[in-house]
Amino acid sequence: MNRSCTMSEIIIRNLSEESMEETVKFISSCQTVDESFIAWLGYSPEEIKSQLMDLTPSFTESCLIAIDGGVICGFLGIYVSEEQSTLRLLGPYVSKPKNWTEIALNLLAAFKTKIPTTINLAKVAFYEANVNCKRVYEANHFNVYNAEKTLIRDKKSLSNVSEVSNQKINIRYYTSSDFDDFIKLHPETAYFTGPEVVNRLDDYNQLIVAATDNHVIGYVYFEKLRGDGYAEICFLNVSPEFRSRGIGSQLINQVIREAFQYDWVNHIQISVRVNNKEAERLYTRMGFKEENVIIALQRDLNVYPWGDFT
Ligand SMILES: CC(C)(COP(=O)(O)OP(=O)(O)OC[C@H]1O[C@@H](n2cnc3c(N)ncnc32)[C@H](O)[C@@H]1OP(=O)(O)O)[C@@H](O)C(=O)NCCC(=O)NCCS
Repeated sequence: MNRSCTMSEIIIRNLSEESMEETVKFISSCQTVDESFIAWLGYSPEEIKSQLMDLTPSFTESCLIAIDGGVICGFLGIYVSEEQSTLRLLGPYVSKPKNWTEIALNLLAAFKTKIPTTINLAKVAFYEANVNCKRVYEANHFNVYNAEKTLIRDKKSLSNVSEVSNQKINIRYYTSSDFDDFIKLHPETAYFTGPEVVNRLDDYNQLIVAATDNHVIGYVYFEKLRGDGYAEICFLNVSPEFRSRGIGSQLINQVIREAFQYDWVNHIQISVRVNNKEAERLYTRMGFKEENVIIALQRDLNVYPWGDFT
């Protein structure tokens, strides 16, 4: 057992294969409550398990659990993007209200030796209702840099799709020859980089493009989460000179058509920055309704290196 810290009777150690099932159930029970929801992980144990299994470095190195009397009572993971020199915090999740802060701080501090020196930014995001996380992160040099509304569209909502003014625009699946155009449009700081998006493509994760003269001028990337019974629009972008011609709406409409072909897709979710009124208007027109607000915080590790947490 890799014991890095003990508090009274609570032990913190690396997540192991034997603890995986209990851990994903524990996280899932936290994810379904707004007060303990953290962005980037899913809702069902199956979905969360597949996300943890995908982590690099492996979950044994990038996830810690807190155990009290043999029962899991805390979790914190990190998702490292060496390419963006950024790490994303998956937690902390703590089930003991009385020891919430103590367990959370110990989980955070236990990452001290695990963070690559090349990482200069730490990010975390959660619902505004998660006041425990907000308090602990704000007390430890994390500042709010973004707030996003989560919008949901169910099967029965109605869309108001404007006609595309330029009929030469073709809405179709991405092919490998679109790579260069796609990379130019995709923001560098997005959660998945352009090459990562392309590597993720399969029956569940799909990239639809809008093309004219065989050049990509817009795209939408979405994922269908089987275990969670919904689809999520992750990225939507239309080249500035082609905006306000109905291309964004057509792309979203295509996602609606594709995703709801599956009986198990109950709704489509999208997160949009609170100040991105253009995108919000578009989604509202397409039948999406506001569900919640996610706040994102970051800590500059060049100014405040990972150290003790108070
Ligand atoms: C958000 C975004 C994708 C919208 O794309 P778009 O192609 O401009 O979207 P549409 O053309 O379908 O809709 C935009 C507006 O043009 C209007 N419009 C649509 N078709 C039109 C037409 N043929 N003629 C005139 N106006 C039209 C729409 O009514 C809409 O008006 P609204 O602002 O009142 O809703 C685009 O602004 C963008 O890429 N932004 C930067 C990235 C971003 O914010 N992505 C979303 C992240 S969640």
